Amino acid sequence: MKGAATATAHANIALIKYWGKADDRLHLPRTSSLSVTLDGLETTTTVVFGGAPQDELVLDGVPRSGEQLRRVSVFLDLIRSRSVESRPARVVSQNRVSTAAGLASSASGFAALAAAGARAAGLDLDDRALSRLARRGSGSASRSVFGGLVVWHAGSDDATSFAEPVPCGTDLSVLVITLSGAPKAISSREAMRRTVRTSPLYEAWATRSTEDLREVSAALERGDLESAGPVIEANALGMHATMLAARPAILYWMPETLGALAAVREARAAGFPAWATIDAGPNVKVVTDAAHSADLLGWMRRRLPEATVTANGMGHGVRVREGAEL
Ligand code: PMV
Repeated sequence: MKGAATATAHANIALIKYWGKADDRLHLPRTSSLSVTLDGLETTTTVVFGGAPQDELVLDGVPRSGEQLRRVSVFLDLIRSRSVESRPARVVSQNRVSTAAGLASSASGFAALAAAGARAAGLDLDDRALSRLARRGSGSASRSVFGGLVVWHAGSDDATSFAEPVPCGTDLSVLVITLSGAPKAISSREAMRRTVRTSPLYEAWATRSTEDLREVSAALERGDLESAGPVIEANALGMHATMLAARPAILYWMPETLGALAAVREARAAGFPAWATIDAGPNVKVVTDAAHSADLLGWMRRRLPEATVTANGMGHGVRVREGAEL
């Protein structure tokens, strides 16, 4: 079918966080970030230009309106403005991630939408251009274009802010501890804005984050998770500290979040390589390596029987093909 394409993209978990924008419209971040793309957690999206009288979004089987549709429509406008395509589009998207629960569904979502939309509109983009386009939908989506370990260079304008894969000397695995699937009370977009504007801790975290990124990329390149782990955990906890100091304060955690952090400390004391990271939500992710993943998964499930715990290896980048599949 002409004007139709389908793409699948995976979620990513930041090891060094993106928190705070330098430019709200272009989604230019204040700091560079580093992530690992995960297998399992994925979004598949079909875009059909000319498939509806006006832009339409069906997400996880439910037709969407309001802010969700508006965000997709604004993104499609960007694609239409760069291509010969001018028709409205029907977008059908299926997640295998819990939407808006801090599991980065916007990352896999906008990476898949960018790839399917660009292909359906006849745009021929290389990976870097696709990463820049995905960034305009959601910052973290710029990283989901690629598989494995990925750095997103903050850059200083639209052309220089893109992600690319970087070498990783160890096979990483991430345990996702789901404590709540409830949608978050405050969007990461709003929370970032408030943190940058009002948190006295923000500048200190942003400065330190640049050093953290250097240290963690170098350690992971030589396969040294023992050195990278403590910095990964500190960077995430520091990000949440900036939010706590914002006015009014932003607190994504639940009591169970502290319980999961305690479990990660115990797992380390028991000899596992295990370090926690937390995004804009209450759920905890545990960074480990593939060699310890199955044992740590069993250990965590016994330790946290109320939670849902899954293990995710490193995933590949976005995959796009012609035609409508959904
Ligand atoms: O998904 P976005 O672009 O709204 O940003 C989310 C930011 C965090 O997930 C909290 C951190 C990150 O780097 O992914």
